Amino acid sequence: MQQKNLTLPSGCSIRRANSEDNWPIRLLVLGAKLDPTQLRWEQFWVIECDRQLAACGQLRSFAGIQELGSLVVAKAWRDRGLGSFLTQHLINTATGPLYLECLGQRLAEFYQRFGFVQVAFEDLPRSLKPKFRWSHLGKKLIRVPVVFMHYPGTEATNLNQPPLQEEI
Ligand SMILES: CC(C)(COP(=O)(O)OP(=O)(O)OC[C@H]1O[C@@H](n2cnc3c(N)ncnc32)[C@H](O)[C@@H]1OP(=O)(O)O)[C@@H](O)C(=O)NCCC(=O)NCCS
Repeated sequence: MQQKNLTLPSGCSIRRANSEDNWPIRLLVLGAKLDPTQLRWEQFWVIECDRQLAACGQLRSFAGIQELGSLVVAKAWRDRGLGSFLTQHLINTATGPLYLECLGQRLAEFYQRFGFVQVAFEDLPRSLKPKFRWSHLGKKLIRVPVVFMHYPGTEATNLNQPPLQEEI
């Protein structure tokens, strides 16, 4: 598991998103062809490099669980550790059981480094199934290579943090 010494390049810093990040976040997410729904800037963390938005990612809250989503690093900043730093930060910030969906084995391996494990659709929490059902259907019907993953470490940790607003 990758927990070791994650650092950001000089000139980069992480912070919670604010309302001015709303459109830059949307553009990053759309540019990466990720799910463009449920992009509430209040749930996002961003990495700024040289005063530009270089990466974003969010924790969506559902009943009793959270989803790590919308993780994007701007093309010019990839392969310099930003995605790993943000992933570890979101794990550390999560306040309950954490799940995600990703496309393809390469991304699944990226998340496995942090301790995520693959999980069957049938074993997902009930509150998450409606959202992930479409990907599940795509996987079954047209073999979309979607992978559902669970981070088993957040159940007993990070619990003294205030819960994020629920999304029902
Ligand atoms: C996946 C992503 C966030 C990684 O960010 P990053 O800052 O480039 O990643 P890091 O520099 O921290 O880590 C690099 C590692 O990630 C792997 N990686 C880079 N891009 C990847 C990609 N598109 N898919 C899977 N793994 C990727 C590299 O193999 C590299 O591994 P290495 O350390 O063995 O060389 C970035 O490529 C991205 O924004 N992709 C498009 C959006 C996306 O697919 N997001 C994930 C949604 S589930």
